[in-house]
Amino acid sequence: MESREFPAEAPSKDLLRFLTCGSVDDGKSTLIGRLLHDSKLIFEDQLSALAADSKRHGTTGDGIDLALLVDGLEAEREQGITIDVAYRIFSTQRRSFIVADTPGHEQYTRNMATGASTADLAVLLVDARKGVLAQTRRHSLICSLLGIRHVVLAVNKIGLVSYQSDAFARIVGEYQDFAEELGFSSIVPIPISARHGDNVMNVSDNTPWYRGPSLLDHLETIDVTGDTVGDPFRFPVQWVNRPNLDFRGYAGTVASGTINVGDPVAVANSGKISRVKELLTADGARTCVHAGDAITITLADELDIARGDLLASPESPPEVSDQFAAHVIWMSDQQLMPGRSYLVRMGTSTTPGTVTAIKYKIDVNTREHLAARTLGLNDIAFCNLSTDMPVAFDPYRQNRRTGSFIVIDRTTNHTLGGGMIAFGLRRASNVHWQVTLVGKSDRAAQKHQKPAIIWLTGLSGAGKSTIANIVERRLHSDGHHTMMLDGDNLRHGLNRDLGFTEVDRVENIRRAGEAAKLLVDAGLIVLCSFISPYRSERDMVRRLVSDGEFIEVFVDTPVDECARRDPKGLYAKAKAGKIKNFTGFDAPYEPPVTPEIHLQTIGHQPEQLADLIVKKLAALGIV
Ligand code: ADX
Repeated sequence: MESREFPAEAPSKDLLRFLTCGSVDDGKSTLIGRLLHDSKLIFEDQLSALAADSKRHGTTGDGIDLALLVDGLEAEREQGITIDVAYRIFSTQRRSFIVADTPGHEQYTRNMATGASTADLAVLLVDARKGVLAQTRRHSLICSLLGIRHVVLAVNKIGLVSYQSDAFARIVGEYQDFAEELGFSSIVPIPISARHGDNVMNVSDNTPWYRGPSLLDHLETIDVTGDTVGDPFRFPVQWVNRPNLDFRGYAGTVASGTINVGDPVAVANSGKISRVKELLTADGARTCVHAGDAITITLADELDIARGDLLASPESPPEVSDQFAAHVIWMSDQQLMPGRSYLVRMGTSTTPGTVTAIKYKIDVNTREHLAARTLGLNDIAFCNLSTDMPVAFDPYRQNRRTGSFIVIDRTTNHTLGGGMIAFGLRRASNVHWQVTLVGKSDRAAQKHQKPAIIWLTGLSGAGKSTIANIVERRLHSDGHHTMMLDGDNLRHGLNRDLGFTEVDRVENIRRAGEAAKLLVDAGLIVLCSFISPYRSERDMVRRLVSDGEFIEVFVDTPVDECARRDPKGLYAKAKAGKIKNFTGFDAPYEPPVTPEIHLQTIGHQPEQLADLIVKKLAALGIV
């Protein structure tokens, strides 16, 4: 019975992880079904159900439709579980296999990238009648970026081109031309028919002109070990195990390399060094552990180590930087906005960070470099990133585990994209923070005030500038030192290059926020009046200053009322279609969730509303 069951976990026999990719109709499901079926891993009852199903659906005459098996499992899994990558395990006499099957639709690049990130080899299916498609090129590029070194070009449905060698040769030639620069160490083309089994398990008589191995032969014999042997030791600390004062262990999974009891290890970020005292596993203490082992390490010295730290061999340490260049694969409908703050998760560490520049977007068909201001779903680009704190990493080419990261939305926690680090940016290590002799508190003390940002947000015409003006005049006449930053005014100077697209507004608020922070450092009370329609940028400004220094004021005027007042005539223009991306019309406004001050303007005079702000500032101890 055992041999007929899907093994629950990776068998100890030599293991090959591979991925199948291709377009929707290229026959991925049929191929995986064929491999599972022919290696006799399907339960008998599943087989008979399959035969009945195939009859009913009638897609293959009297034969068994192998795609039904895989797609059936897919449907089961889709109920309630969100991961769209199916890992299947099967074994032959010679080897065990883990195959990642990922849905082929264009919008599923995310799944494909997930599957590819752990695979040693990719089976790239193309339909012999259609040849190399955009999807084939996209998948190859992703495989290459994700560090897959071996490709099988499976030219499927070879029977449908009458087993012609020239059709096969044409596709192979075209693919090899395309893949030349992708840096694969092997590309093995095989003409197959997943449905009829040609060249899948055994070499087929239908293709006498083909002299290579069958697909399974190749998968069973290809040597992929050379790819990772000898990587330096890397251990991302998942959690610190401290049950009592006498024990402190660092738990996690070895990402790469080998370590022995007694070996020196360094904490990447601090550079502090100690020696391995014990290596504890679920099966007891060991003297040596390797990549993939789940362990708890104890050290000879008490070092300051927390979750997210990376332990490494001191002879070949990782890079540590807060700026680096990376390939980013964007996987969300929500566009990537340079300047917006995201979470960057690398191994076990999570740090806020931004894309500071999109250097270029890559055309997946021609690999041409294109200019881009934002990234959309499935886009692949080369970008500069910056993190709020230095992170430890290796270039992805050297280490796939410590060289990759994912980009997460700060509010929803959704994964938006993934990336592969190309190199750290040297300039980061050449720029240092200068300590000043006079600081924010000295400057503020001289003015007898607490510095703060009073941030007014709301629609155009809501009354922000009017109210901010009255507040500033009141504070000023009371002897406070103030400054006013107004959206319209900054757009005459600092921000004059920016328009009203989302990406420009993100940058508008980023710059305004940085300017406001400088004025807070100068000890001033800064009034800021910006539509600032996006929560994430308002939150970003809040995080730029200390707790209690950011007072968000929601100037809440319904859009109809703003349009009725229309002080600048902009609503009339927007209605007439003369202004695009007008907030409240064809551009969004995200109201604050918990503003410090919420002003409903209808039925109140600006003086009354300004008064409410001043009172609140007094209550907060700012004035
Ligand atoms: S923000 O959205 O990027 O925060 P900001 O406050 O700097 O905008 O500038 C808004 C001002 O620009 C408005 O008060 C209005 O006078 C003017 N404006 C011109 N075009 C637009 C537009 N499409 N949407 C909103 N405001 C616009």
